[in-house]
Amino acid sequence: MLTSQFTPTNSSTNVTNGEISWSSPSNIALVKYWGKKEHQIPQNQSISFTLSECKTITNLSYSKRENTNDDFSFKVFLDGEHKKDFEPKIKTFFERIKIYLPFLKDYHFKIETRNTFPHSSGIASSASGMSALALCLMSIEKELNSKITEEYFIKKASFIARLGSGSACRSLEGDLVVWGKHEDIDGSSDLFGVKYPYQVHQNFKNYQDTILLVDKGEKQVSSTVGHNLMHGHAFAQERFNQAEENITKIKSILTSGDLDAFIALVESEALTLHAMMMSSMPYFILMKPNTLEIINKIWSFRKESGLHICFTLDAGANVHILYPENEAEAILKFIKNELVAYCQNGHYICDRIGFGAKKL
Ligand code: PMV
Repeated sequence: MLTSQFTPTNSSTNVTNGEISWSSPSNIALVKYWGKKEHQIPQNQSISFTLSECKTITNLSYSKRENTNDDFSFKVFLDGEHKKDFEPKIKTFFERIKIYLPFLKDYHFKIETRNTFPHSSGIASSASGMSALALCLMSIEKELNSKITEEYFIKKASFIARLGSGSACRSLEGDLVVWGKHEDIDGSSDLFGVKYPYQVHQNFKNYQDTILLVDKGEKQVSSTVGHNLMHGHAFAQERFNQAEENITKIKSILTSGDLDAFIALVESEALTLHAMMMSSMPYFILMKPNTLEIINKIWSFRKESGLHICFTLDAGANVHILYPENEAEAILKFIKNELVAYCQNGHYICDRIGFGAKKL
């Protein structure tokens, strides 16, 4: 694995302290990543829409330590509140990335973070959170070494984000990102996400994603455990092959603008992801009765209306409803009238495809 490209050369600049902020979006996979090898290398390729409204905003302050020892020095705050329970995860992340960012032990860090989506909404904040933090850390590397190019900056930030949470490497750029080496996608890599490099049909411009919050509780099964259950899974190899073929298929769909083919592929991917969970050992179900109610309602409405509404799922019970912008009015009306009743406390979030992370 060619990770040496991300080991920095010695920097000459001396930076004593500073502060940096990034806002980074969440993403929703169309072809799902499920299963990983060592070092967060994906077992299959994935592609996602970058979102606009569901974001993490992270402010990182750093000051040079007088006496460094072998430990990292940092504190994490969520919405202004010191979050000690977040710190072990960040420590593991720092351990993984320290060879790529050797300055980590030289500074004390204050990590202040907030999400634009509600607390415990069941929306994973790891993708937006880890990508925002990776971007902040890369901004320090850039201060230390001003020769870093923009291309290298974003590639390495995605590489670092991946080591925090796999899908985070798809949360830096918009509006479609591919992760995993695939022969049909130029420049694709297992090490970082790349912006989808081909022309996309007008039908997918400003594509809408309304997220129905069916269950706002903590996930019963973490994605790390889920990924690991793909080791020795009876259908694993078939699934990985299918994902590879689906990337080829979605590439031609994104060119042609064939919405019916898009719907079939995206819904099949979502159900396959959950089928993998249901057929692992131990097995588990993350969908709730209301998830199924919503799916059935979407299918009936699509049949009746002829509109191009479809769903996808993450590793949870919430439903992402995807649809083209020019059908938004009728579909939103349907969502409000028929589907909101299945959401916990009637909560949903209107989002759409977005253009990636921003330095603030
Ligand atoms: O990034 P992780 O390790 O939390 O994995 C997320 C996997 C899915 O969200 C279920 C699918 C995907 O490709 O985003």
